[in-house]
Amino acid sequence: MHNKVKDSTILVTGGAGFIGSYVVEELLQLQPAKIVIIDNFIRGSRENMKLFAADPRIEFHQGDIRDTALLESCISGCDYIFHMAALRINACAANPADGFEVMLKATFDVAQLAVKHKIKKVIYSSSASVYGLAQHFPTPETDNPYNNQTFYGAAKMWGEQLFRSFKFMYGLDYVALRYFNAYGPRMDTDGKYTEVMIKWLDCIRDGRNPLIYGDGSTTMDFVYVRDIARANIAALQADISDEAFNIGNCEETSLKQLLDVLLKVNDSTLEPEFREENSINPVSRRLADISKAKQLLSFSPSVSLEQGMKELSAWYFEKIKTA
Ligand SMILES: NC(=O)c1ccc[n+]([C@@H]2O[C@H](COP(=O)([O-])OP(=O)(O)OC[C@H]3O[C@@H](n4cnc5c(N)ncnc54)[C@H](O)[C@@H]3O)[C@@H](O)[C@H]2O)c1
Repeated sequence: MHNKVKDSTILVTGGAGFIGSYVVEELLQLQPAKIVIIDNFIRGSRENMKLFAADPRIEFHQGDIRDTALLESCISGCDYIFHMAALRINACAANPADGFEVMLKATFDVAQLAVKHKIKKVIYSSSASVYGLAQHFPTPETDNPYNNQTFYGAAKMWGEQLFRSFKFMYGLDYVALRYFNAYGPRMDTDGKYTEVMIKWLDCIRDGRNPLIYGDGSTTMDFVYVRDIARANIAALQADISDEAFNIGNCEETSLKQLLDVLLKVNDSTLEPEFREENSINPVSRRLADISKAKQLLSFSPSVSLEQGMKELSAWYFEKIKTA
C-alpha cells in the first residue's frame, strides 16, 4: 500500500495527550516531512512527548484549538489531520459550556479550515460513548445512538455527523474511530477523574484491599493504547472515507475480572472489598464488534489484557518511584 505519511505534513490536535502521543510516535516511523502538534496541556504533558519532543520533524504549539487564528496557522500547509483534542466525559458534564466550545465549536472550525486548506483526510477520534447502552453485544457500528445520555457522547456523534455532512457538501474525506475503553502507560494518573485501575494499582502498592463499587459486573472492552494508535494509522493509509469504525479488543471484561487480572500480573493476593454503588451507571455493558475495522482497515488488536496490564503496572510503579 502507498505510504501516505511519507513526506507529508500532518497535524495532530491533542498530540501531547495519552492516545495522541502514541499516534505521533507511530507517524514518525513512517517518514513524514513534519508533524505539527497543538495541545494546551489541559491533560497532555511534555512528559508524554519525551520520546519525540526533540525530533526536528516535530513542530509543537502550546495553545488552544479554540484560538481559531492559531488553529488555522497549524492547519495551513498540512496534508492530513488527526483531530484528537477533546475534553473528557466527566469534564464535559462538569462544564458543558466548555464542552461546547472545545468539542463542537472548535471541531466545526477544524472541519471548515480543513476544507479551506484542502486537507486530504481527517481522522476523527470518536467514542463508543455514542452508543450509550448499545442494543446489541458485540455492538456493530449500525447500532443507533439514541440511548446515549451524555453531553460527551452527543458531541462525538455530532462530530461524526459534521464530518459526514462536510464530505457530502465539500468532498472532505474523513474516517471516524469509535474507541472503546483505552488504557496503557501515560493514561491520566492524578487528574480528578483518575481511572479505576490506577486507584487499584495504588492499593496494590500500599497493600490495601481494592474497592469495587457495586457488584463488579459492569463490563467494558479494554483496548491497549498502542493498538488504538495503529488503528489511526490504518484509517489514514486505507483508501477509505466517510466511514465510522469501532476500535476495541472484542473482549467483554467485568470490573471484577479486570481486578483479578491486575492482581495476577502483580502477584498480589489482596481481596476486593465491595461497596455500595454511589452513582447510577447507565452503561452497564460494552463489547465491540470490530469486523468492519478488520475487513476494511485490516486492523486487529495485538495486545492482550494481561500483557497490557503488565505494561501499565510496570510504567505506573516506575513513574511513582521517580516522582
Ligand atoms: N481514553 C479513552 O478511553 C477514549 C475513548 C474514546 C474516545 N477517546 C477520544 O480520543 C481522543 C484522545 O483521548 P485521550 O484519552 O488521549 O485523552 P487526553 O485528554 O489524554 O488527550 C486529549 C488532549 O487534548 C488536549 N486538549 C484538550 N482540550 C484542548 C484544547 N482546547 N486545545 C488544545 N488541546 C486540548 C489535552 O491537553 C490532551 O493532551 C479524544 O478525542 C477522546 O475524546 C478517548
